[in-house]
Formats: sequence, structure tokens, C-alpha cells
Amino acid sequence: MSIASKAAGVEFRNVSRRYGSTAAVDDVSFSIEAGTLVTLLGPSGCGKTTTLRMIAGLEMASGGTILIGGKDVTRLPATDRNVTMVFQSYALFPHMSVADNVAYGLVVSGVRKRDAAARAAEGLELVGLGGYGQRLPSELSGGQQQRVAVARALVLEPEVLLFDEPLSNLDAKLRRKMRDDIRELQQKLGLTSVYVTHDQEEALAVSDRIIVMNKSVIAQTGTPDELYRRPNSRFVADFIGGANLIDGELVARGGGTATVALGRLTLSVPDPGLPAGGILLAVRPNAIRLRPAGADGGINGGGDGSGDGIPVTVRKATYLGSHMEYGLTSEFGDLFVVDPNVANPVPAGATALATFTGDGIAAVAR
Ligand SMILES: Nc1ncnc2c1ncn2[C@@H]1O[C@H](COP(=O)(O)OP(=O)(O)OP(=O)(O)O)[C@@H](O)[C@H]1O
Ligand SMILES: [Mg+2]
Repeated sequence: MSIASKAAGVEFRNVSRRYGSTAAVDDVSFSIEAGTLVTLLGPSGCGKTTTLRMIAGLEMASGGTILIGGKDVTRLPATDRNVTMVFQSYALFPHMSVADNVAYGLVVSGVRKRDAAARAAEGLELVGLGGYGQRLPSELSGGQQQRVAVARALVLEPEVLLFDEPLSNLDAKLRRKMRDDIRELQQKLGLTSVYVTHDQEEALAVSDRIIVMNKSVIAQTGTPDELYRRPNSRFVADFIGGANLIDGELVARGGGTATVALGRLTLSVPDPGLPAGGILLAVRPNAIRLRPAGADGGINGGGDGSGDGIPVTVRKATYLGSHMEYGLTSEFGDLFVVDPNVANPVPAGATALATFTGDGIAAVAR
């Protein structure tokens, strides 16, 4: 017997979940392709867990249609859906061995004890815990307990595997390792996984696609790269990757790019599909470069407007080993900059020239 994937796609059509007069999830539509990992990302209270629980059938939709594997499951209870959830708290039975914990769901669903034990051993092997079966959960580390929870979900061969902030009880280093392991396992077994997190870096690292939620609705859906490079709102630009938000003027569009005036600078950015006029520029912290003032003929040495910089004062300079972090004061307000040049840092208090590198700048609506 071996653990196989029965991956199915998931589709939400205009799904809402209301509590009294407030909607936790409001008219949300998306589709998740079978065999992919999709993250629900957003700030606390935006509706991530409610969405996940509606996929599981632990929460019933107040309106709309939910399909799993093309089949309408909107009214089906959790027990009639082939979906399992890995909880943040692990939820292991403390007095049962690790092997029995993993086999439990199989035994309950009628699998013969011997077969369940064999499948549990295989599940533990998959998550790197072969040989740990006879221990009690209390005899494992937090990270190992989380693996047991994953193994317990995997052996049920769900059509959809759900994760609700699975790593939030682990320290930063272990979180990184676990998220890589989960991603590897998901790809190896071809699982359909829906993964909830409010950590944008985690979302960028593990996802095929990300559904960004804000205030009960979807703000934007896309691949990690699309969301980072082409955010379509101030919220997404700021929430994913962080950005300096600066008022600019969209002056022309064409050929997939837009020309934007920023003070006396002219920049070329991906076409945001917005009309000419006032826009907001979302400038990534690594899209600004610093040069000591006076280099290359100084701040007035340019003239063509594009490519040259603006004068800034370094308010704060922090050495972080692989890069510098700067807080700048400029005509566009305070700017946050991440600069890989640690060999020749610009000290706090100095004046400098800041240039905008083009890549890493997006225009969004004000
Ligand atoms: N059983 C409930 N009764 C009333 N309101 C609820 C209930 N469950 C959730 N809510 C509300 O619905 C909204 C969305 O909650 P949800 O748990 O989905 O958020 P979340 O995105 O998972 O947040 P977090 O990151 O904090 O876990 C919140 O405003 C919450 O207070
Ligand atoms: Mg939640």
C-alpha cells in the first residue's frame, strides 16, 4: 500500500459567510488548480480562516457555491468531504503513540488495523520521522509534532490538504525549514494544498499562487512574482514586500509601459492600466540606490531628467551584514532603502544622491 495523491481542484463562486449583519467573507470567487499550492494571505481578521473552514465544511457558506473536483459540495458536511486540515496547535492525542495518532483517522474510517499501521509508518517516513512511531507526542520537539500532524493528514489521502498558519508556533529558523519541507512534499505528492498565513515572505516562498485578502474580499490574485512586480493597489504593494509610497503623475502609456513624472524625474514603469493623472508610485526598498553627494558631478550634473537622482539626507544607517538599511529624508518624504553595498556605506547625517533603478517600481491608484 502506498500513499497516493487524489488531488482535486477547488472553486468558490460568489461565496459569502455572514455572522449577523457582518460578513467575514464577502462574495469571494477564485479557483485553485488540482496539484497546486495556493496561499490565502492577508492581515488578521480579513477572512482567511473562515475561507479555509468553508473548504473543509467546518463552516457553511451563507451564499454562493463551493466546488471540489468539479462537484458541488456547498451543503456537504465536513465528514462527507475528502478534505483534511493541519491545525496550528497540532491537536495530537497526548496519550496515544505517534504511530497511533497517525493511524487514528484511518482506523476510524474503517481501514483494518494492520493496513492502517503500515500506512502510518509510511506517512511518518515521508515526513522524516521513520522510527519515531512508538514515542508519545510529548517526547517530540514542536517541529516534530508538526510533522506528525502533517503525516496524519497525508495518510488520509485527501483531495485537498488545508494548512492554517501551521508554522506560527515554531521559531524563525525551524519555520523556514518546515515551510521548505511542506512545499517539497506537496510537489512530490502532487497535493492540492491551501495554505493560510499572514506572513508575506512565507507566502512568496511556498506558493504557486497567492490570494491576497483584505477586509473580507480578495484584493488581488497572482503568482508571487506578479504580485510583487505588478501590485494593483496600494494595499497589495505595501503588504507584499513593503514599498515606499510616493505621489507621482502618469503622463503617458504605450507598449506595455507607462511614463511617470516624479518631481523632476521621469521614470518608466509597467503599465498599470490607469488613466493619465495623479497616481501613487510603490517603490521597493531595493529599487533606490545611494551615492555620496558630489559623485558624478553632483546633484545638478544631470539634465535629461531620467536616470539621475534626488538629494537626500541619511537619517539612519544600519549595518545588517549582507546589506545596509537606510532611513532617508527627501523631497518625497521619508524613504526606506535596502542596499547591498556594505563596503562603502553612507553614514548617518551625510547627504547623498538617491537614484531610482526602474525595476521594482510600480504605479497604483492613489
Ligand atoms: N464565529 C464567529 N462569529 C462572529 N464573527 C466571526 C466568527 N468567526 C470569525 N468571525 C469574524 O470574521 C472575521 C474573519 O475572521 P477569520 O478568522 O476568518 O480571520 P483571519 O483572516 O483568519 O484572521 P487571523 O489572521 O487573525 O487568524 C473577523 O472579523 C472575525 O471576528
Ligand atoms: Mg485565522
